[in-house]
Amino acid sequence: MNDGYRTTARIAGLGRFLPEKIVTNHDLEKIVDTSDEWITSRTGIKERRVVAEGEGLLDLVVRAGKAALDDAGVEAEAVDLLIVATATPEQPIPATSAIAQPQLGVVNAACFDLSAACSGFTYSLNVARQFIATGAAHNILVIGAECLTRYTDWSDRKTCVLFGDGAGAALLQPADAGEGILHIDWRTDGTLADFISMPGGGSRFPPNSRESIDQGFPFIKMRGNETFKVAVRAMTELSLDLLKRAGVQPADLDLFIPHQANQRIIQAVGKRMGLSGEQVYSNVHQFGNTSAASIPMAMVGAVEEGRLKRGDLLMLTAFGGGLTWGSALIRF
Ligand code: COA
Repeated sequence: MNDGYRTTARIAGLGRFLPEKIVTNHDLEKIVDTSDEWITSRTGIKERRVVAEGEGLLDLVVRAGKAALDDAGVEAEAVDLLIVATATPEQPIPATSAIAQPQLGVVNAACFDLSAACSGFTYSLNVARQFIATGAAHNILVIGAECLTRYTDWSDRKTCVLFGDGAGAALLQPADAGEGILHIDWRTDGTLADFISMPGGGSRFPPNSRESIDQGFPFIKMRGNETFKVAVRAMTELSLDLLKRAGVQPADLDLFIPHQANQRIIQAVGKRMGLSGEQVYSNVHQFGNTSAASIPMAMVGAVEEGRLKRGDLLMLTAFGGGLTWGSALIRF
């Protein structure tokens, strides 16, 4: 069932952290021309978490990372690699992972951030798996975290209802073939880079430039409708391809966790893959789209709700800006 690696990576521990503040659809009705009915029927989202004043990505990263280390029962000093997947870092320089290192106590870890938008966690799993398979690392902490609401244009009803903040983390360790990550793959299509973008805040339109602020660049922009269609097709095709390579039928999956962006996307992917409603996990109603945090946050939710147990056959699939996407088949 696995893809030929003699050593692979297993998820030894999971953790998540959510900001306390909850913003409901009714709260949004007070600031933009929208309604709970529209948001619920088009997206499935009912509420989202929002970082408090003075909070930043670092706070979420550290709390989620510590929770994953505790869950795995691994000492922070034993971690040899820390990857933070995010599109909304604590600050441009240095990497959020480096700033988080002392607070996490992962003093022996090399640290870097990975930028693949909503696919960031799945991409990081693939990177971590390679380092573990080659024997170059033995304990890798992967954290997907976002403060998307800091880059949300609260006057744009097309995007402000979609996003939320949060963090999820996984501690990866070596495992024999047949356990842990069985198959994992990723894709990028940069010709569609402008489907989901934030053009300001980089080197072309730096955050300190008047042009960047005047033109509203440092906000997330999305061609929602077109993105929707590609997301459904891309996640379905790659996931079915992985199942085929593994010789696994969709019905054999104990749980399928797709990126939590929109309930209609989640349902469409599940249906096209031939999965039953019980096989498909969703918590988008609670947290909205938290980008790189969405899949690890959902895994923690699934474990807490008793829907994901050790030994289960689990499939993850993510899709986001880039455009990027990735899927993983895991014996949990
Ligand atoms: N409240 C009320 N009306 C809204 C609204 C809101 N929050 N947002 C948009 N509308 C209106 C639009 O203005 C439009 O009105 P018009 O026909 O008078 O111009 C109408 O609703 C339909 O807009 P449209 O953008 O076509 O809606 P949609 O059904 O495509 O839903 C999204 C919009 C964003 C929910 C949906 O496209 C989506 O989820 N896209 C993918 C998101 C995603 O997966 N991102 C990638 C992963 S990160």
